[in-house]
Amino acid sequence: MRAPAKINLSLDVLGRRPDGYHALRSVMQTLDVHDTLELSPDPTGALTLTCDAPALIGPTNLAWRAADLLRQETGYTDGARLTLRKRVPVDAGLGGGSSDAAAALLGLNRLWGLGLSIERLAVLGARLGSDVPFFFYAPTALATGRGETVASLPPLPRVHVVLYKPDSGVSTRQVFAALTPALYSDGSRTEALLATLRADPPLPPDRWPLSNDLQRTVRLLYPAVARALDALRDAGASNPLMTGSGSTCYALFPDEDDARRVHERLSGAGGWTALTSTT
Ligand code: C5P
Repeated sequence: MRAPAKINLSLDVLGRRPDGYHALRSVMQTLDVHDTLELSPDPTGALTLTCDAPALIGPTNLAWRAADLLRQETGYTDGARLTLRKRVPVDAGLGGGSSDAAAALLGLNRLWGLGLSIERLAVLGARLGSDVPFFFYAPTALATGRGETVASLPPLPRVHVVLYKPDSGVSTRQVFAALTPALYSDGSRTEALLATLRADPPLPPDRWPLSNDLQRTVRLLYPAVARALDALRDAGASNPLMTGSGSTCYALFPDEDDARRVHERLSGAGGWTALTSTT
């Protein structure tokens, strides 16, 4: 299974809900860069995970938890061997762990012949994390609620993307906890982006009105993110933005050569960088 990364093209935070989560409105998009999850049946009933990033092996891994949840929900008793090849960095705002979980749910549903619908898998996924359901409605979708209520949008044309992540990661929980009501918005930035994506003739992606209500807070809490945005701009990106709660920042390019030049300039600058495109 391919477990693609995602970026948020918009992320409006509407307010804090009584359950402690924040109400969101976000346009999300999958990328070509992906983890790979290999699944094979294990009739002994064991559920095992191996991963080329040893720190991610264990019962907190979202792919493993997805497998465990699926068995609990269905009463299925056979096991599986999960082999995860990580290419998407963690604590990065790229949804890597969530995507691994979605891939595990989808793949094991098939491998174990459980016959659950996509909608049911997405509802199960929401119990593992707010970003998991999106991956069932990819490549392009509008997420609302705490992020778990998702509706597919018409797929975007192929857009070139440069990702740049500082060495440090970000705690999503800490970022949301630091938000103040003055930083909330009314969802109109996402509406403006949706109108732009529908425009005919289309606007080039480096001129889309991208936005992220978490960015201001993260820039203050994590100066490395502010420096990453500056580095993208210095390398030639006109409109860089942070994805999710960070720490990865990205820029969109209509032209592949422009994206390649920016990627090359960032390659010696420390941190992690990738040249990819929308799925
Ligand atoms: O849903 P997930 O486990 O990925 O969220 C991680 C943390 O981020 C939550 O525990 C919560 O503190 C915060 N969060 C939030 N509002 C959201 C999504 C996440 O406050 N819509």
